[in-house]
Amino acid sequence: MSHAPLHDPRTVTVRAPAKVNLHLGVGAPRADGFHPLATVYQAVGLYDDVTVSAWDDWTVRVLLEGPLVEQPERADPTTGLAAQLERDNIAERAGRLLAAHHGIEAAAAITIRKSIPVAGGMAGGSADAAATLVALDRLWDLGTADEDLLDLAARLGSDVPFALLGGTASGTGRGEVVEPLLDRGAWWWVVIGNERGLSTPAVYGAFDARHPTGDVPDPALPTALPAALADGDPVMLAALLDNHLQAAALDVRPDLAATLDAGLDAGALQVLLSGSGPTVLALCSDADHAREVTAGLQRAGHHRVVAVPAPVAGVHVVEYDGGPVR
Ligand code: C5P
Repeated sequence: MSHAPLHDPRTVTVRAPAKVNLHLGVGAPRADGFHPLATVYQAVGLYDDVTVSAWDDWTVRVLLEGPLVEQPERADPTTGLAAQLERDNIAERAGRLLAAHHGIEAAAAITIRKSIPVAGGMAGGSADAAATLVALDRLWDLGTADEDLLDLAARLGSDVPFALLGGTASGTGRGEVVEPLLDRGAWWWVVIGNERGLSTPAVYGAFDARHPTGDVPDPALPTALPAALADGDPVMLAALLDNHLQAAALDVRPDLAATLDAGLDAGALQVLLSGSGPTVLALCSDADHAREVTAGLQRAGHHRVVAVPAPVAGVHVVEYDGGPVR
């Protein structure tokens, strides 16, 4: 595709974090097919950077960077993961939704530098959508109200509002109703990636298959979790981590049991599946412990491993390039 060059050199880059769920309570499917959730989200120091610039048509370019998303060199550039993401991307949907909300006809070139695993259970696509909303709001000088951004985010996906918020927050509804929580911890997670992604609907389907009569209690937030977060005690937190999708994800991918065991063998305080998986999270007591657990996992042959701090900020502008000064 050829493009006439546009004479607007401005670019805006927005960084968006991955999320983990400290508690993921899931209920029986609602009439709309979504599952009611009672979750506690935490934003972790693993990011996608989204850069936007004015363009005459929507284009998306995806660059896979970092240990959790690197692809084998033999990957075909037309059928590989980056190409698949470029063909159908939630960031473009976010941009179109923002333009429609304001009734403007505009398009943009979007470049996504991905470090968050793709289909990994860490809301990487949601992070890109949230980042695109904020980046284009700034590029187009729209001044969209926070409530409107949260509303647009919720329409794009259940996890998108949390990516805007960051920090630590409860999530109810289908995950899109977010409320900040006090979190005094300086947590460290070791993130263990996987070569293959896992489909979120497939894992929810496996959850339903485990409960054929739909007899699942309404999900509720555990009362002890806010206290552990306010306290900042990793041993307390380790005892409270819980993911109701974990057993269902293991039904789809039994191999993940060995990855969870590897985290414990490497000395983590506790392990759990991230969201719908397949990424595995290992909670550590501090940065030194996270380095030891990372080294242990690498010695055991796991190479898609990074240690990340939490909580971190939600989407934020990291670069605004107004173009050359004339
Ligand atoms: O909201 P989002 O687009 O991220 O959801 C992806 C899929 O995950 C949905 O189509 C649905 O199958 C499943 N899902 C669900 N209940 C939720 C969130 C997601 O069943 N609360």
